[in-house]
Amino acid sequence: MAFKACIFDLDGVITDTAHFHFLAWQRLAHSLGIAFDHADNDQLKGVGRMQSLEYILAKSSRAYSEAEKETLAHQKNEDYKTLIQEISPADMLPGILPAFDWLKARGWKIGLASASRNAPVVIEGLGIAKVFDYVADAGAIPNGKPAPDIFLDVANAFGLEGGECLGVEDAAAGVTAIKAAGMTAIGIGDAYVLAHADIILPQTGILVSEGFEKVAG
Ligand code: BG6
Ligand code: MG
Repeated sequence: MAFKACIFDLDGVITDTAHFHFLAWQRLAHSLGIAFDHADNDQLKGVGRMQSLEYILAKSSRAYSEAEKETLAHQKNEDYKTLIQEISPADMLPGILPAFDWLKARGWKIGLASASRNAPVVIEGLGIAKVFDYVADAGAIPNGKPAPDIFLDVANAFGLEGGECLGVEDAAAGVTAIKAAGMTAIGIGDAYVLAHADIILPQTGILVSEGFEKVAG
């Protein structure tokens, strides 16, 4: 089946906001006396806000009420929003603009499947909001990654089958979601973490030459 769409994750694929999520979670965890390192962060890539908080609080010796959890999630998000305030087109990862051009030139649809409720602000800051034919609303998707729902939501919006779509992700949970949606997965990052992707690339600079060109044949 020929590909007709490419569906992108945002954080860690289009721009390095994955690092800002890490900083904000680490600051919160440390303020609670909980250890938090890059290995922990790898578990949280692609995972929604409250679920990420639950992962962190599970390492604490005390229990937190729902009201406290809401406050902590809000605190992390405020911190994250401060970190992303200055995002500009210069923060786009290498190869992303050429990747959009390659897709547009071939008439493929371009979708965004980010678990982040801050995604609209980030793509606006990057100056690429208009590039997308459809942006999934993370707040309206009941089951987060690794469930396929957010990728299927984008495919449905395009009137396409999963097999007609390519997904690009930096998170293990995201690659699982793409595969569960019946799509072809390009993983960006660590081959060990993303072993279940169809193609694994160390960085986005070679997305067109080693990713799109390879799957498009
Ligand atoms: C994902 C990130 O894209 O969005 C996660 O990989 C983050 O780290 C999740 O927790 C939710 O983001 P937000 O901005 O809605 O808290
Ligand atoms: Mg990501």
